[in-house]
Amino acid sequence: VNTVNTSMWHYWSYFAKGIEYTLIISAISVVIGVLLGTLLALMRFSKSKIIHAIAVAYIEFVRGTPLMVQVLFVYFGIGIIVNLPALLSGIIAVSLNSGAYVAEIIRGGINSVAKGQTEASASLGLNKTDTMRFVVLPQALKNIWPALGNEFVSLIKESSIVSIIGVTDLIYQLNIVRADTYRGVMPVFVAMIIYFIITFILTRILNHYEGKMKHAK
Ligand code: ARG
Repeated sequence: VNTVNTSMWHYWSYFAKGIEYTLIISAISVVIGVLLGTLLALMRFSKSKIIHAIAVAYIEFVRGTPLMVQVLFVYFGIGIIVNLPALLSGIIAVSLNSGAYVAEIIRGGINSVAKGQTEASASLGLNKTDTMRFVVLPQALKNIWPALGNEFVSLIKESSIVSIIGVTDLIYQLNIVRADTYRGVMPVFVAMIIYFIITFILTRILNHYEGKMKHAK
């Protein structure tokens, strides 16, 4: 008889592969998201009305539509022109999504710097660019940095949606294990615990550095 090994340990490599993909997608996307988000935030502060409008429209639209639809749109939309691998489509979609959220994080960080700081630098004779570079941004970074860490944690959870286009992330793997073992709940539970362990450890690390930044005045 054919017996099925229903022990979750037996499938550790499936979960490991899934974690690997989940972390790769989140890590790459948060880096691209930060670059794109910085660009969008700067565009938002631009004097040009058109550039400002483009940034606002992008941010609003991306934040106003589900990541799931964006993932499907990138995968099947670009798929009309070129056959893009699911993993690449997933990374592109999650990155484009993250950029909009990061733009808001950066804008919030910059706005959080007291107005008196800008006024004081103006009275010292600093121009706008130098005020931004030497006065506002260094202080804004204190608020932005922890929020970017949270964005990374968010992406680890939110990127689970890429499993719908067949990216072999943790969610995709847990479904394979479910099918293989005929166990409906246990693989889901294991994945849930794995997600928690990852985000828990990451949050601890981020808090550690956040604490260090607070003391470095
Ligand atoms: N789940 C929500 C959505 O589908 C939030 C996505 C969060 N994205 C992010 N980059 N933090 O739109």
